[in-house]
Amino acid sequence: MDCRFDFPALVNNPELVYLDSAASSMKPKATIDMINKYYTEYSTNIERGVYKQAMEATSIVEETRKEVADFINAKSSEIIFTRGCTDSLNYVALMFKSILKEGDEVITTPLEHHSSFLPLLKASKDIGFKIRFVELNEHNQITVENFKKVLNKNTKLVQITHVSNVLGFKSPVEEIIKLSHEVGALVSLDGAQAIPHERIDVKALDTDFYSFSFHKMCGPTGLGILYGKYELLNKFDPVELGGEMNDEVTKTSVTYKEVPYKFESGTLPIAEIFGAKGCIEYLNKIGYDYIHETSLSLRNYALSLLKEIKEVEIYNDIEESTVIAFNIKGVHSHDAVMALSEHNIAVRAGHHCAEILHTDVLCVPSTLRASFYFYNTKEDVLKFVLAVKEVIKFFKEVGLCE
Ligand code: ALA
Repeated sequence: MDCRFDFPALVNNPELVYLDSAASSMKPKATIDMINKYYTEYSTNIERGVYKQAMEATSIVEETRKEVADFINAKSSEIIFTRGCTDSLNYVALMFKSILKEGDEVITTPLEHHSSFLPLLKASKDIGFKIRFVELNEHNQITVENFKKVLNKNTKLVQITHVSNVLGFKSPVEEIIKLSHEVGALVSLDGAQAIPHERIDVKALDTDFYSFSFHKMCGPTGLGILYGKYELLNKFDPVELGGEMNDEVTKTSVTYKEVPYKFESGTLPIAEIFGAKGCIEYLNKIGYDYIHETSLSLRNYALSLLKEIKEVEIYNDIEESTVIAFNIKGVHSHDAVMALSEHNIAVRAGHHCAEILHTDVLCVPSTLRASFYFYNTKEDVLKFVLAVKEVIKFFKEVGLCE
């Protein structure tokens, strides 16, 4: 199946080899059409209006909430619309900030994206709880054995990435969740890089919280989801206050709406929620088997070719990943990414908002990351590898590459 034609930005940029889907995926027409539908047929607010267009738009938003819930095997009441995965992870940190105290412990890992780690860091500085890091193994992976070393009766929250945004490694979350629950700790997973590639079943995982963004999985920017178990969400106060999340307001008091509405203040990203509906329908049509197998096999094909180039250093030489983290020896990733861009190759360079992983674990200031998705092709892989060779040749000529 060639899906490229479903993506207008790929059709409009025929030369582009897009290997930066882990930063943001391309958006299919199915998503864009639904966003247009909102602006061209509705453009009203939701929940508040009692006229036809507003009520219809409200039903589409609530239908989408149900479709998101079904997509991850949750209940509609467990789906909070946010402005992105960063927002969802900030909500989790703020919820826990309201219940944690000095002496409590939170477990995280050196693989975390800043959006997972920084809200926890701020909360720990404000409250005084301790953050413990799971040590990575020799392949820079999280292991259950190392997780056990930091888990104890003081652990109240475990927040880890489901899949690393830099290395693409999957964390052993099933076992981690089981062990965490045994000591009474709750688990929050950053699913931003997992859900674009695999079917997520929050009930089977038994995770307490799951955060993700739509824009990495063929959906719109500006929309995230925070899944939380209903009974837990019920116990927490809202973290953001504003319109529509309250029932009754007086000069001295407020009562909140029920879950999930008490966590959704202000006007929701309505057009984006419409887009999410198109996105879910599209992903269901393509199917995760195809998505996963295509991304993985293209990435592994590219990996096998890159491994033959001695000037390339690879940081995640394992099979089960849809990204390649690498550097061209002696060349700063920002110089390399610009040179690759001259060949119409789009990859990402930098520390990818995972600075601790780079400074403390990989011990390099930055890496290049090529990320693959199901709309990529074998031709993309060949063009990419050829461009890497050309770029190395160029850097050698100017005396930069080792
Ligand atoms: N979090 C996104 C990435 O890893 C932007 O590139």
